[in-house]
Amino acid sequence: MPSQSRSLRGIFITLEGGEGSGKTTQAFRLFRSLTSQGYDVLHTREPGGTPFAERLRSILLDGSAEVVAPETEALLILAARRQHVDHVIRPALARGKVVICDRFSDSTIAYQGYGRGLDLKFLRVLNNWATSKLTPHLTLFFDIPVTTGLRRRHGQAADQNRLDHEARRFHSKVRAGFHALAKREPRRIKIVDARLSPDSVAASVESLVLDRLRRSRSITRQSR
Ligand code: TMP
Repeated sequence: MPSQSRSLRGIFITLEGGEGSGKTTQAFRLFRSLTSQGYDVLHTREPGGTPFAERLRSILLDGSAEVVAPETEALLILAARRQHVDHVIRPALARGKVVICDRFSDSTIAYQGYGRGLDLKFLRVLNNWATSKLTPHLTLFFDIPVTTGLRRRHGQAADQNRLDHEARRFHSKVRAGFHALAKREPRRIKIVDARLSPDSVAASVESLVLDRLRRSRSITRQSR
């Protein structure tokens, strides 16, 4: 983690992936499992996580008759992220919690960078600015073929958002983006095969997370 994050005792874990990868279900399962093992856990999501950021999420994800420029989308996401980092994530990490966040900065690189075509270097600068360089300790990338993911997602009619309706090509670029990120930072970003059964995925997730938690001297479990 960058120097200004060293005073944070907690562990920051992010879950990433394309549409229909099952990461949200897995985030809930991980939260329940770690909590039952005595860890002090916060489960949150992006865009969102604070009342103000959740309002930005609704604006971002609701369908719009107006064309939304990629720059507009990126800036709103980053605005929500700043609120989330300042009001929720950093305070929880300062208290020594395990923070599980459903999406974070890597989604911006994959969706707005690789997907929308915004400049990757500039997005990295903006991400650093919006988070004061807060970087996850561990990121799980839930990888699923685009067609499988979109099929799953379109089965969940109530749960669809503006980005789900992007062309298949867009989602392929997003997936390629996550793969490029995982290749660039293999120590932080671990690929999870999201085609497997929910129980198998949960087992891989738990093993990767517990391994990371055991290596952290500052994370302790409450006795039950
Ligand atoms: P979710 O459906 O996984 O909760 O994510 C909401 C949508 O927001 C999803 O389509 C991806 C998108 N998104 C971005 O495009 N960039 C980002 O930085 C984040 C956090 C989400």
